[in-house]
Amino acid sequence: MKVWIDGRVVDASEATVPVTDHGLLYGDGVFEGIRIYGRQVFRLLDHLRRFASGARAIGLALPVDLQGVEKIVLETARAFGQDEAYLRLVATRGVGGLGVDPTTCHEPRLFCIAATIDIFSAEQLRAGIALATVSVRRPALDALDPRVKSLNYLNNALAKREAKLRGADEALVLNAAGRIAEASVANVFVARGGELVTPPTTDGSLDGITRDSVMQIAASLGVRATAESLSRLDLLRADEAFLTGSGARIVPVASLDGQPVGWDDTAPGDRPVTRRIVEAFPAFTRANGTPF
Ligand SMILES: Cc1ncc(COP(=O)(O)O)c(C=O)c1O
Repeated sequence: MKVWIDGRVVDASEATVPVTDHGLLYGDGVFEGIRIYGRQVFRLLDHLRRFASGARAIGLALPVDLQGVEKIVLETARAFGQDEAYLRLVATRGVGGLGVDPTTCHEPRLFCIAATIDIFSAEQLRAGIALATVSVRRPALDALDPRVKSLNYLNNALAKREAKLRGADEALVLNAAGRIAEASVANVFVARGGELVTPPTTDGSLDGITRDSVMQIAASLGVRATAESLSRLDLLRADEAFLTGSGARIVPVASLDGQPVGWDDTAPGDRPVTRRIVEAFPAFTRANGTPF
């Protein structure tokens, strides 16, 4: 693991953040999870724009401009040197007083971690994962907007914890109205009648870059893909379902709350729409990467 912090790249064991940083004390900050595929940073500009807009949304002035952040990301990727990797770009409010007041923090902190992660195994990517509908609801847009990728991920962590405690792999998180928002840190897609549907971000999800990539790939394959509000029942009635995220990638869903999802014995990763999207994904990453 390599980390860009305080102007240089160091090993993770040497990268430290003070205990009075409000990123740690209050989850005050924003982050991005970015994939490197084939020695290219995937959709870097889109990640940087989301990062910058999240920072604006919480009134955090990034210590460098977007070109500066891009240089830091590419420098971290080069130092790590792996062809396939995962980057975690983080901006915190910085060191401040022991009260929540962000105006006591005068120097936002930026760091970038390069590592490898595998959230789901190759077997899960074929056989699919088990989802559990959790009791933790996604916060309302006017409470903590889920479209801001903030460091305040307690809601997401508790959703994942509950799903794991109930023996599932991942959480299905609903909003206060009972509509599907997303998984703990991934977007949800269902396929029915050969078409793809994903909930609108206004139902409580991040505007995922993998989600958008799947919509673009679907369009190029002539598969209709739309954003429409979905319920648990829509998932149980679907022909196929999968999750998308930079960390998770494209993960087929095998069951929800102990009920199978889909109608035949085909492995969820081998079902027609899922397979076409998964097979087209590598070429899409090659065409949308920044080399380092
Ligand atoms: C809450 C949440 N939803 C969805 C996603 C998927 O977004 P992306 O595809 O941009 O990684 C993420 C990030 O991985 C996330 O943190």
